[in-house]
Amino acid sequence: MAFQIPESGDAVEDLTKTLGASGGDPRILAVANQKGGVGKTTTAVNLATALAAIRKKVLIIDLDPQGNASTGLGVERAMRKETTYSLLVGDARIAEAIVPTMVPGLSVVPSSVDLSGAELELIDVPRREFRLKSALADVSGDFDYILIDCPPALGLLTLNAFCAAHAVLVPLQCEFYALEGLSHLVKTVDRIKRAFNPALEIQGVVLTMYDRRNNLSDMVAADVRDHFGDKVYQTVIPRNVRVSEAPSFGKPVLLYDWRCAGSQAYIHLAGEVLKQERSLNLERRLSA
Ligand SMILES: Nc1ncnc2c1ncn2[C@@H]1O[C@H](COP(=O)(O)OP(=O)(O)OP(=O)(O)O)[C@@H](O)[C@H]1O
Ligand SMILES: [Mg+2]
Repeated sequence: MAFQIPESGDAVEDLTKTLGASGGDPRILAVANQKGGVGKTTTAVNLATALAAIRKKVLIIDLDPQGNASTGLGVERAMRKETTYSLLVGDARIAEAIVPTMVPGLSVVPSSVDLSGAELELIDVPRREFRLKSALADVSGDFDYILIDCPPALGLLTLNAFCAAHAVLVPLQCEFYALEGLSHLVKTVDRIKRAFNPALEIQGVVLTMYDRRNNLSDMVAADVRDHFGDKVYQTVIPRNVRVSEAPSFGKPVLLYDWRCAGSQAYIHLAGEVLKQERSLNLERRLSA
């Protein structure tokens, strides 16, 4: 199926207003939460697709040995010659590892199960936290956005993502234990900011799998907004069966069914991220 950009609706109008918001070096965002199954990969894949739909050049780095982002983008295991593992251990340059996807403007560096061994293999390597950052330096200028899909752990892989990124995007599932572990994530970001990457910041928190029939979702959303204030995106990603079906077809939900509530939410999220980038750029210029 050809990639279709939505032609009408509020989400599209919002996005059209924000077209052309970035430029220059890529903005690198780590999509991270050490909690498993909260929507990191879904957010990385679909936010990237929504950004590509408005003609941003986007690269996803699949930094999870599970390889869900690669699979969800239709990159079969046989197509994964050079991977994030090859980058981290220095077996390949990033240009050899980038694979185009069916979404125009969206590419991916796929992962493989070897990546689960990288942590041990790099144990004695100097500056092992900066392996990904060095690899990404080779593509600056080629992309507007680089989204790193992190594994559900705060080990060396996520540490590499935090050292390479400008900011961390945190998907948070609307469930009872949502905030559990989040203070640990925030502390980790602070520690990395102090030790390795002074510019690192939390870009924002995105609430995922929101179920409007469930009061708990509202309570969790209110709680998270109390804690994180305007860091929490207004856009909430609803629990939507189309979102969960799409990866088994090797497609982002925006390609599988762009009209569904989940796709529309990711389009809105992309609009919010671009608006946020515009005001951050302005702040940076004013303080320079
Ligand atoms: N908005 C949604 N509505 C319905 N299902 C969803 C939604 N978002 C994610 N899912 C499903 O929930 C599961 C977990 O999502 P996902 O893989 O994105 O989480 P993750 O944080 O990347 O997981 P992991 O920690 O294992 O990497 C997947 O089966 C996905 O299809
Ligand atoms: Mg994942």
